[in-house]
Amino acid sequence: MARQDRSALIVGASRGLGLGLVKALLARGWDVTATARGSAPELEGLAPVAPAIERVDIDDDAAVAGLRDRLAGRSFDVVFIVAGVATDAHVPVPEIDRAVALRVYETNALSPIRAAETLAPLVAPGGLVALMSSVLGSVGANESGGWESYRASKAALNTLTRSFELRHRADPFGMVLMHPGWVRTEMGGADADIDVATSTEGMADVLERQLGRKGCVYLDYRGETLPW
Ligand SMILES: NC(=O)c1ccc[n+]([C@@H]2O[C@H](COP(=O)([O-])OP(=O)(O)OC[C@H]3O[C@@H](n4cnc5c(N)ncnc54)[C@H](OP(=O)(O)O)[C@@H]3O)[C@@H](O)[C@H]2O)c1
Repeated sequence: MARQDRSALIVGASRGLGLGLVKALLARGWDVTATARGSAPELEGLAPVAPAIERVDIDDDAAVAGLRDRLAGRSFDVVFIVAGVATDAHVPVPEIDRAVALRVYETNALSPIRAAETLAPLVAPGGLVALMSSVLGSVGANESGGWESYRASKAALNTLTRSFELRHRADPFGMVLMHPGWVRTEMGGADADIDVATSTEGMADVLERQLGRKGCVYLDYRGETLPW
């Protein structure tokens, strides 16, 4: 069903899951504004219905503030920070280059929560701030190890998001930490469980169900609650 009355700001949509979310929401009739930090030929080529496109690197606080200023006066039902990295994810913590591990923390935890803080005034009453987490961010579900610095960055994102929600409890929006499934993107790799469309259709359903709900939930693309 087309829902032209709904709108989303998708941050980190040049490719992969962000691009897939833009396509899924446009197909549902949402009004979509999408961001990329550089060249994004697939996003720019979307037709016949195209998103509005903005440029922002989430590691640049001033650029995120500039985005908020350019969008001042707009309001979005969903602001979804999707951008993330998995640099040297297979390198164990004792061996990973310190600077690389710190950059993964910056882009996956610090930058998304600071972007959420900056962009929260753009969220419509009853809307959602969504952040792309991962099941790998669950401390309780870590029975297999691996991807240590990436796991830690997403666990930090989960913790920072819980604290963000407590600070913003009086504000009229809810929060979703999302696990998209293990998805065949550049990050997920060719052996992943599901394709982008399966993940993004599921996430779009979850977002539509969560609209109007307050609090902070940690859900996968099927709407299942994950352990912290
Ligand atoms: N794929 C999976 O199985 C999976 C599972 C769980 C969670 N996730 C999470 O889902 C999100 C998207 O992953 P994906 O699989 O779509 O990965 P991907 O194909 O590697 O895409 C990553 C996206 O993040 C953007 N990005 C990275 N750093 C950025 C920055 N500093 N500022 C703005 N944009 C930035 C990239 O932009 P450029 O094109 O400019 O590099 C790209 O659009 C990530 O947060 C990831 O951790 C993925």
